[in-house]
Amino acid sequence: MSELRHLLNVTAKRAARYLESLSQRTVAPAPEALNRLKELDHPLPVEPTDPARVLALLDEVGSPATVASAGGRFFGFVVGGTVPAALAANWLAGAWDQCAGLFALSPVSAALEEIALGWLVDLFGLSAGTGGAFVTGATMANFSGLAAARHALLAQAGWDVEAQGLFGAPPITVIVGEEVHASPLKALGLLGLGRKRVIRVPADGQGRMRVGAPPRISGPTIVCIQAGNVNTGAFDSAAEICSEAHAAGAWVHVDGAFGLWAAASPARAHLATGINQADSWATDAHKWLNVPYDSGIVFVRHPRHLHAAMAFSAPYLVQGEGREPEHYTPEMSRRARGVEVWAALLSLGRSGLADLVERTCHYATRFAAGLRAAGWEVLNDVVLNQVLVSFGDAETTRRVIAAIQSDGTCWCGGTVWQGRTAMRISVSSWQRLKPTWSEALQRCCGLPRQKAIGGNSWRNSSPLLLLTRRSRSSR
Ligand SMILES: Cc1ncc(COP(=O)(O)O)c(C=O)c1O
Repeated sequence: MSELRHLLNVTAKRAARYLESLSQRTVAPAPEALNRLKELDHPLPVEPTDPARVLALLDEVGSPATVASAGGRFFGFVVGGTVPAALAANWLAGAWDQCAGLFALSPVSAALEEIALGWLVDLFGLSAGTGGAFVTGATMANFSGLAAARHALLAQAGWDVEAQGLFGAPPITVIVGEEVHASPLKALGLLGLGRKRVIRVPADGQGRMRVGAPPRISGPTIVCIQAGNVNTGAFDSAAEICSEAHAAGAWVHVDGAFGLWAAASPARAHLATGINQADSWATDAHKWLNVPYDSGIVFVRHPRHLHAAMAFSAPYLVQGEGREPEHYTPEMSRRARGVEVWAALLSLGRSGLADLVERTCHYATRFAAGLRAAGWEVLNDVVLNQVLVSFGDAETTRRVIAAIQSDGTCWCGGTVWQGRTAMRISVSSWQRLKPTWSEALQRCCGLPRQKAIGGNSWRNSSPLLLLTRRSRSSR
């Protein structure tokens, strides 16, 4: 066996062992594991290190210091795991080491990107002819969609923004909801459109733009709406906003980092009604599709605008007959993310994807029901995979969150929702609940334990349980 083959086999065994270990460990890494990271911090040796030794060190010191977000008990932020086909495809694509920028550099990546984009356009109900591109995440997808919008609006006003920049350009009005995610604002800042010069439309209790509240639109305008608020999961009223915006000649961009996937589930697609009338969309594959980080996708109804915003030329860069991926992305060289998206979609199929979305939404509903039954206040309408819960005052809620995180059975983060400190539960992993986990979930919900949970002491001695009881009795 060649040394390389041996290294890859050993690495595969290490990776499998890591994944198997996830059900037995705390979600957050133990303090000792974090402490051991110091072992990696030494001056770069002059002499080479055997690759097997490099991998052993990475696994022995690095693996315990990971957050076990791949394991299905991580409910923080909006973080998926990795479905098996996507992980395996990621390994193979790593071996391929393809530069996905040009067809000439990777015909297979270019082909898989186009196929996956076509499947997604169909799954999301976007109109035929919609184009797109694979980027690092929703923030770069927002950036790319908004860059296409900037191009289209200014070209219509007779201004070539790619050539001339924004100095002296006609101003673009940007309208966002009061509860806009920080990501489109960051993208607007990068595009010279400003994070703060946006017009903010008041939001309702779920974070949706209030109907009838958007200002009268005149001149080049982008209306940026949400499919899935990061805290509540709520959707802006896309059909109404799109029809008003389009009547005034505005461009509608959708931040659908996770919510866009609702359109792929017959049971949740109603939430996304009208979303397909927009002009550009940003989403993540590393969230709900459960492919490895990093992976985002932008879609643009008329891809020529994305092309105009991103295309470039240089004498040594070949231009083939077909679609050249790097003419649709901010990057030139980049890894072949479309491979994992294609693999995840093929392995799940339409029904598997719908089931993944529906199952996670169902778990969120169960969380919310358990929390309400235990007497806690759920702050949002649980329409998707997000739950917001208050355990009383801000300090008590923060104590419960800290206890959950240190207990290690699962991991939930905090937020402040419209002035209330709350715990966020975001169910995004493809992993099915196992009986032991549902007991953990019940504990997480503050419900009495049905029966003793055998095995690990970290499962049995939940400070969460004590804290939630204490905080309940102290209300
Ligand atoms: C609604 C929304 N938009 C954008 C983002 C940013 O996504 P990314 O971190 O992949 O850039 C997130 C992340 O949670 C989000 O929930």
